Amino acid sequence: MRILVTGGLGFIGSHTVVELLENNYEVVVIDNLYNSNLSVIDKIHKITGKEFSFYENDVCDEDALETIFSENKIDAVIHFAGYKAVGESVQKPIMYYENNLVSTLHLCKKMIEHNCFNLIFSSSATVYGNPEVLPITEECVVGGTTNPYGTTKLMIERILKDICISDNRFHVIALRYFNPIGAHESGLIGEVPNGIPNNLMPYIVRVASGELEILSVFGNDYDTPDGTGVRDYIHVVDLARGHLKALEKINDLQGIHYYNLGTGVGYSVLDLVRAFEEVNGVSVPYKIVERREGDIASCYADPTKALQELGWKAEKTLEDMMRDSYQFILEEKNRE
Ligand code: UFG
Repeated sequence: MRILVTGGLGFIGSHTVVELLENNYEVVVIDNLYNSNLSVIDKIHKITGKEFSFYENDVCDEDALETIFSENKIDAVIHFAGYKAVGESVQKPIMYYENNLVSTLHLCKKMIEHNCFNLIFSSSATVYGNPEVLPITEECVVGGTTNPYGTTKLMIERILKDICISDNRFHVIALRYFNPIGAHESGLIGEVPNGIPNNLMPYIVRVASGELEILSVFGNDYDTPDGTGVRDYIHVVDLARGHLKALEKINDLQGIHYYNLGTGVGYSVLDLVRAFEEVNGVSVPYKIVERREGDIASCYADPTKALQELGWKAEKTLEDMMRDSYQFILEEKNRE
């Protein structure tokens, strides 16, 4: 089976490419390097000992997609490519809507032209907005997204649903990720944010490594056990494996199906800081500051549907996540 992976050199994409290669899939990657780096190709090769085809192109570029689909018989697409920074999306909504939506539309058009109807879409728990009940099941209402990035995920899910209604040859799985962290245990691939990180884990590792001075904890007056925000952190390798489980099942599923990929357990910001310090034997200085606009108190998954229907479950522990995240940044520094 040959899989086209859009955004295959990015954080989640690169870990998924590794799992695909290790499970003997043939892989074709398209990535414009906006949020990734060519060196990831060598690193994936080092981990797996396997090769894949790479196209340095933008998914918005229809001619490039035409070339890829003409040169490769693609059986399924895993679509990661897209802009993903929440704060930036508030500043640059047109850029976010244009890029994330146009790329997906072009991709679907080319898939139809080339008789490829299997698509796994990289969605997000952000589609649930501020959840009415916890843990969040796939039955929960979607909507109420608080930023353009989240709204692009919601809109793309809707577009894919309409495409499935119009054409019953399509099999689409939207995987709604909770908070991916961690890195490959080799220390070779992991998360490399553009500029100063917005997300908690990349920030913690940079404070621990001395690159940043102090962590700002955004509010300690939420309705949570210690007042700080609670999230469902999931190891990126577990997340990557979820895509393989989805691929194995995709042909049995008609139309669009949605799955939460999370562990089902919520940890607060301070839980994470403490776990990180304990596992890695380092200190992470922090200060409590104002809440960050658009943040919600708690968000964690009920991952039962993915277990029952895809046979997928997160296996890695919080300790694995803390250790692998730190290991990656230390090795990255050595490579600089
Ligand atoms: N936080 C801090 N300090 C920081 C960064 C984050 O206290 O410097 C807190 C946040 O307030 C929140 C928690 O840490 O309580 C997690 O924040 P992240 O920015 O790491 O993640 P979010 O849950 O806000 O958002 C993430 C992804 C989105 C995705 C969403 C899915 O960034 O892309 O999860 O629910 F949509």
